[in-house]
Amino acid sequence: MKHRIIMGMQWGDEGKGKIVDVLSSDADAVVRYQGGANAGHTVVIDGRKIILHLLPTGILQNKISIIGNGVVVDIEELINELEEVRAFGISPDKLMISSRAHILFPLHKTIDGAKEKSRKNSIGTTKRGIGPAYADKFSRTGLRMCDMLDRDAFEKKLKAYLENYNDYLAPHYSTEPLDIETHTETIMELRDKLYIYIKDTDIIARDLYSSGRRVLFEGAQGALLDIDFGTYPYVTSSHPIAPYAFCGSGFPIAGDFNITGIMKAYTTRVGAGPFPTRMSEREEQALRDRGGEFGATTGRGRNCGWLDLFAMKYVSFISGIDSIALTKIDILAGMGELKVCTQYRYRGETLKTFPASTDMLDEVEPLYKTLDGWTDNDIRSLGEGNMPRTIKAYIDLIEDYTDAKVTMISNGPSRKDIINIEDR
Ligand code: IMP
Repeated sequence: MKHRIIMGMQWGDEGKGKIVDVLSSDADAVVRYQGGANAGHTVVIDGRKIILHLLPTGILQNKISIIGNGVVVDIEELINELEEVRAFGISPDKLMISSRAHILFPLHKTIDGAKEKSRKNSIGTTKRGIGPAYADKFSRTGLRMCDMLDRDAFEKKLKAYLENYNDYLAPHYSTEPLDIETHTETIMELRDKLYIYIKDTDIIARDLYSSGRRVLFEGAQGALLDIDFGTYPYVTSSHPIAPYAFCGSGFPIAGDFNITGIMKAYTTRVGAGPFPTRMSEREEQALRDRGGEFGATTGRGRNCGWLDLFAMKYVSFISGIDSIALTKIDILAGMGELKVCTQYRYRGETLKTFPASTDMLDEVEPLYKTLDGWTDNDIRSLGEGNMPRTIKAYIDLIEDYTDAKVTMISNGPSRKDIINIEDR
C-alpha cells in the first residue's frame, strides 16, 4: 500500500487540484503541507467549479483533511472558504488544523503589499501575506494555532503582538496603525469559529501511519517556486517540493511512497522572475486565451512558454519524482509544431544543470527540439483509447529527460477528462 505525494513541477498552476481530487478517491486522508491561501486549486464537479485556497482538496470527497504544520493559516480566508464549501453542499467535519501551524493575520497581507511597493524589483506576490507570515515564523515572533486554544491567553498574546506591529512594523512600512480593541475583537470572532478544528495533527499522522491508512500529500505552488530550489528571489516562501511533505506534516519518512509530479504540457508563470522558454507575444496570447491562463487566486494573466525539460529534469531529480500526470494537453491542439526545450546554453557553453543564479537564467538561451503537434481529433481519439503518434512522441521525450513515467494525461477540466496510461 502506497502513500502518495503530489507536487507541482513548474511555477504552479499545473492543474494539481483536479489530479489531487481524482487521486484522493482511494486515500484515507489528504494533507496540505506548505504554503497558504496563495494557492488556488480548481476542481470542477458536475459542471460546478470550486476553487480551494487553503482547504485540502480531499475535503470535497469527505476525507480526513489536514492542514499541516508547514502551512501558514490565513484565518480570515479559511472562514470564508469553509462557508463556500458548506454552500457547495460539503461538510468540513473531517477538517483538522495542526496546532503547530502558524497563523496568518490580515496585517501580514498589509505588510506583503507594502513590501512589494517598496521593492525596486517587485516579486509579483499574490499579496496574500505569505512572505511576512513565514518571516514571523522563522524570526520566532509569530503566533500559532495552538495559541488560540486558551481564549484568554490568546487575547493577551494577540494584543501584545498587535502592539508590536503598531510600534515597530506599521511605521517601518508606512502603513496605518491598527485599532487594537476592534482588531482584537475581529480576530477573536474568527478564533471562536476555528478553534474546534485545531488538533495535534502530527499525532494523527502517526496514528494514520501505524494503522496502515493511505495518506495523500497535496503540495501547492510548484518546485520552481521553492524557496531553496526555485528561481530565488522570485519564489514563494515555502517548500513545494515533495521532500518537505514530511517536515510539513510530521509524517515519518517510512513506508512506501509514490511521488507524483504534475506537469502542464506547456509552461506558465505569474509574477516576476526569469522564464527562459517564454513564447512570442502572439503565441502567448493564443495559448493564454485557449487555456484560460488567468490566476485562480489573483485573476492575473499568466505568461506562457514552451515545455522546459531541462528544468523538469532538475525538478524530477531533487524531488525523486517517479510518476507524472501530464495536464492540459488538449490546449496545445492546433498549435502546429511544438517546441520543447532540452538544454540551456550560457555564454557559448551548454549547462550541466538548471542554474541557481537568476542573472544566469535571464541570460540563458534555451535549445529546442521541434515536434509535430496534434489536433482536436487526436485528443478525441486519445479519449477513445488510442494513442496518437504525436502525443506518444511528446510523452517519450518527457520520460527520457525526467526519468519518470507519465502515468496519467488530463485532457479537459472535469473529473472524467483523465486518461490512465500506466499500463501502456
Ligand atoms: P507569494 O507566494 O504570494 O509570496 O508569491 C511569490 C511568487 O509565487 C509570485 O511570483 C506568485 O505569483 C507565485 N505564486 C504563489 N502562489 C502561486 C500559485 O498557487 N500558483 C502560481 N504562482 C504562485
